[in-house]
Amino acid sequence: MDLSGNTVLITGGASGIGLALTERFINAGSEVIIAGRREDKLREAKARFPGIHTRVCDVSDERDRLSLFNWVKNHFHDFNILVNNAGIQQRINLLNAANSWSYYNNEIAINLDAPIHLSLLFAPVLLKRKSAAIINISSGLALAPGVWVPVYSATKAALHSFTVSLRLQLEKNGIRVFEVFPPAVNTDLGGVGLHTFGVNVDAFADAVFYGLEKGDLEIGYAGTEKRLQASPEELYQGTKQSWEGFIKNNPEFLDK
Ligand SMILES: NC(=O)c1ccc[n+]([C@@H]2O[C@H](COP(=O)([O-])OP(=O)(O)OC[C@H]3O[C@@H](n4cnc5c(N)ncnc54)[C@H](OP(=O)(O)O)[C@@H]3O)[C@@H](O)[C@H]2O)c1
Repeated sequence: MDLSGNTVLITGGASGIGLALTERFINAGSEVIIAGRREDKLREAKARFPGIHTRVCDVSDERDRLSLFNWVKNHFHDFNILVNNAGIQQRINLLNAANSWSYYNNEIAINLDAPIHLSLLFAPVLLKRKSAAIINISSGLALAPGVWVPVYSATKAALHSFTVSLRLQLEKNGIRVFEVFPPAVNTDLGGVGLHTFGVNVDAFADAVFYGLEKGDLEIGYAGTEKRLQASPEELYQGTKQSWEGFIKNNPEFLDK
């Protein structure tokens, strides 16, 4: 995939993995549009990369998604790559899920409804564009759940399934569909400080760019590269082990 000369929309592009991908697309000579809820974060990104375009958008909201779609379609006639990156992660004790349903549903709306809906909206537009692509950022937890983030893991497993269907439906139309499986990456996902044990975001984004350039449709890194090759039994045993490790390090989780 040629990473230069594109017009790319990145949801959640103002921080973490989205910002690292923004930087790389800009450096490769592409035009980048980023969308997110926090105006101050979008402004900070624009100060760092003055050439980018920003849009306040809550991707959990259907009207916001439609408005983002119409704005991009009407203003960026060369738009050719959608990166579904925006996501949140919530730790949930399933025996003490005391919040209202809207709290849980929000994670599903952001992580799953949004990439599906944006893909449906943009696919017909991408049909007419050269080097068109959709890049979905799922997770290693799509393959083996993080038991302490059960809804998150379910949204990512569903996004993985949707991405396979999307790829096969679109492949004859010249739209390439990529899926990126990050391992734990040191970003603010889930709250500041919860992913400091993760891999460096720049090293990870470099590897993603290398994979995109080579045309790898499924891109893993470190642990998730191995996970993509694992058997169902290995995935299940890995899930059990990581859950046991989590509980050992966070015994209070089951009391909350
Ligand atoms: N970091 C990891 O360990 C890891 C591992 C596997 C997968 N991932 C995936 O990588 C993607 C990026 O996450 P990250 O690690 O870079 O975390 P991050 O720094 O928290 O970035 C998430 C981005 O999504 C945006 N976002 C969240 N909810 C949104 C909404 N309703 N509407 C619009 N934008 C929204 C946030 O901006 P606003 O808050 O301003 O809206 C933020 O810019 C996510 O899909 C995540 O699931 C991350």
